[in-house]
Amino acid sequence: MARAEVGDEQRFQDPTVNALQERVAELLGHEAALFLPTGTMCNQIAIRLHIGPHGDEIILHRRSHPIIAEAGGPAAHAGAMLSPLDGEGGMFTPQQVEEAIRPAGDRYSPRSRLVCVEQTTNMGGGRVWPLEQMHGVLEVAGRHGLRTHLDGARLMNAVVASGVSAADYGRGFDTAWIDFSKGLGGPMGACLAGSAELIAEAWRLKQMMGGALRQGGIVAAAGIYALDNNVERLAEDHANARLLAEGLAEIAGVEIDPSTVETNIVIFGVADAPELSRRLEERGVDISPLGAAQMRAVTHHDVDRAAIETALGAFRDLLAA
Ligand SMILES: Cc1ncc(COP(=O)(O)O)c(C=O)c1O
Repeated sequence: MARAEVGDEQRFQDPTVNALQERVAELLGHEAALFLPTGTMCNQIAIRLHIGPHGDEIILHRRSHPIIAEAGGPAAHAGAMLSPLDGEGGMFTPQQVEEAIRPAGDRYSPRSRLVCVEQTTNMGGGRVWPLEQMHGVLEVAGRHGLRTHLDGARLMNAVVASGVSAADYGRGFDTAWIDFSKGLGGPMGACLAGSAELIAEAWRLKQMMGGALRQGGIVAAAGIYALDNNVERLAEDHANARLLAEGLAEIAGVEIDPSTVETNIVIFGVADAPELSRRLEERGVDISPLGAAQMRAVTHHDVDRAAIETALGAFRDLLAA
């Protein structure tokens, strides 16, 4: 990062940002890409790109990031209606999408306009959408003239877990993005990919939302480093998540099916999640409560096997007590 060659990113003059954008466009099977400060901004700009006049509708999972963690952005930035779907593991089926799409030409209902998919599913527990199921959703959306968006905050985890390439996941969507600040270990930043035309418009929205940067190459360099060095090692995070899940399954008072842990997220049930989270924190184990009776643990490159053993030891002690 200290050695990064930089320039004015707003004027397309930062060579490191430009290099990262080209790399991500190719990685995701798209024409162009845009470096943004956060993944949330990727989602918000994409939603704004795809939702035309206010009132159009987005079909997405009920526990997807734009619904639960973007401060109402779809309504604020795009005036979007939301059509939330339920489904195990944060996923839904092509049939559910078919049923959610409003009748064409109906002047009473909102107009279905966009389908969003999360790969992997965050609140679904890091599950990997099977390619075939994803293609089924894309087929239905395409047949009805809907746009499609892939939230790839943890796409590289899916790539490593499944062996399917990022381009095979990303190519069929109108827009797709990856985050550098999660398992990939970067300090910040994400990249949104799409057609040259969509990305040109995304640039305008980036400016509008105050996301345009100056010497962004300093952080883009970390994104390039992450793609070079931190992708394959995601397999370690997945192994550590499984180790955690299997260990937790043996502790009385924890409810978990370790076979559902496919990547780096472990969601499990306990009697009093906020209290347990506080007690764990006192012992240096940082795991957030997810409501009253669930917790969500995420493994990443600052968590090694020994840390998993430490966490399991703390769970054993606290739950036995
Ligand atoms: C699925 C998903 N989408 C989007 C985001 C937002 O990414 P960022 O934290 O870079 O804004 C997150 C962050 O946790 C996420 O899990």
